[in-house]
Amino acid sequence: TVIDAAGQVLLPGFVDMHTHLREPGREDTETIESGSAAAALGGYTAVFAMANTSPVADSVVITDHVWRRGQEVGLVDVHPVGAVTVGLEGKQLAEMATMAAGVGQVKMFSDDGHCVYDPLLMRRALEYSSALGVLIAQHAEEPRLTVGAVAHEGPTAARLGLGGWPRSAEESIVARDAILARDAGARVHICHASTAGTVELLKWAKGQGIAITAEVTPHHLLLDDSRLETYDGVNRVNPPLRERSDVEALRKALSDGTVDCVGTDHAPHAEQDKCCEFSQARPGMLGLETALAIVAQTMVEPGLLDWRGVAKVMSERPAEIVGLHDQGRPIAVGEPANLTLVDPNREWTVRGPELASISNNTPFEAMTFGAKVTATLLRGRPTVLDGQVQR
Ligand code: NCD
Ligand code: ZN
Ligand code: ZN
Ligand code: ZN
Repeated sequence: TVIDAAGQVLLPGFVDMHTHLREPGREDTETIESGSAAAALGGYTAVFAMANTSPVADSVVITDHVWRRGQEVGLVDVHPVGAVTVGLEGKQLAEMATMAAGVGQVKMFSDDGHCVYDPLLMRRALEYSSALGVLIAQHAEEPRLTVGAVAHEGPTAARLGLGGWPRSAEESIVARDAILARDAGARVHICHASTAGTVELLKWAKGQGIAITAEVTPHHLLLDDSRLETYDGVNRVNPPLRERSDVEALRKALSDGTVDCVGTDHAPHAEQDKCCEFSQARPGMLGLETALAIVAQTMVEPGLLDWRGVAKVMSERPAEIVGLHDQGRPIAVGEPANLTLVDPNREWTVRGPELASISNNTPFEAMTFGAKVTATLLRGRPTVLDGQVQR
């Protein structure tokens, strides 16, 4: 195969620490196969499939299935994320060691509902993870600080009558976990950082030498709460779209390294779970196929990151944080060729039904972007060529 890369940017294959595939349990909204195609089209060579499947990925049977199925499909390495607790928001730690020792070699554990909000359970999870050499990823969202059913606050949300999922729900967990990680001598990763206050806490914690890392989603880099005006359920997500000042703080934090990387939080949902009343719509947005375009628009165009920086936040840092040794590496003789080719001057318009995901819940419908992934290589084999999946 000859690939004409004239005028294009060659990057290490992207690594997504935060993908929701819906297998097992909701294969009507995404499967490991459809999600793998979406990931390859987005330039990803490795994704981490979150544990909130049905049943929850709290045992080696499920985590091994996820890894094996991903290898069978062969478009992207689908690394299973194990659940920290048994069952949905369980009270007992799952057998992390067994999952880590399986063929899926689980490297990262996360709660399966919201955060692990019992502080004692979180402390034990951090101690255990540290002994095992695995990473705990925390969806920082303390449910008991949520007022009402809807996850929003700020002047727009208040005017629209949307109840609150306040910043404090996120920031109190970030602060608590930074301190617990310090005392446990453990690492902790913050999923989908969304507020200016979280950025300040990360700065403080990193300044103290605490081993904390964080990701930001493409949608939190681009969209703000003005999107709520329409009451369209497609804009409902956890954490919620915040105010413009938060968006600005997150962009700056990603450019200066306070936030380490981009995680898509790709969250497919069925039409019927999204088109109902806003407060009833399931939270979550598609992300894999649009991530690079949004990073180019929000970070490269305004000069906050150059393409070297994009390689860092989309590939090198996530691979390093989660301990993937065959990804996010400098390209050298003998290295596995996990590569992504980007056309930085390719206009395209997002159309939900044209995406490889089974679900269509993209908040970027009909938006036009200026950069596109044109080819992806997984260990030297093209998984995408000319923007087409190579099965
Ligand atoms: C995620 C989902 O749908 O699984 N939803 C979301 O709004 N982000 C769960 C999560 O990441 O908290
Ligand atoms: Zn919960
Ligand atoms: Zn979450
Ligand atoms: Zn998520």
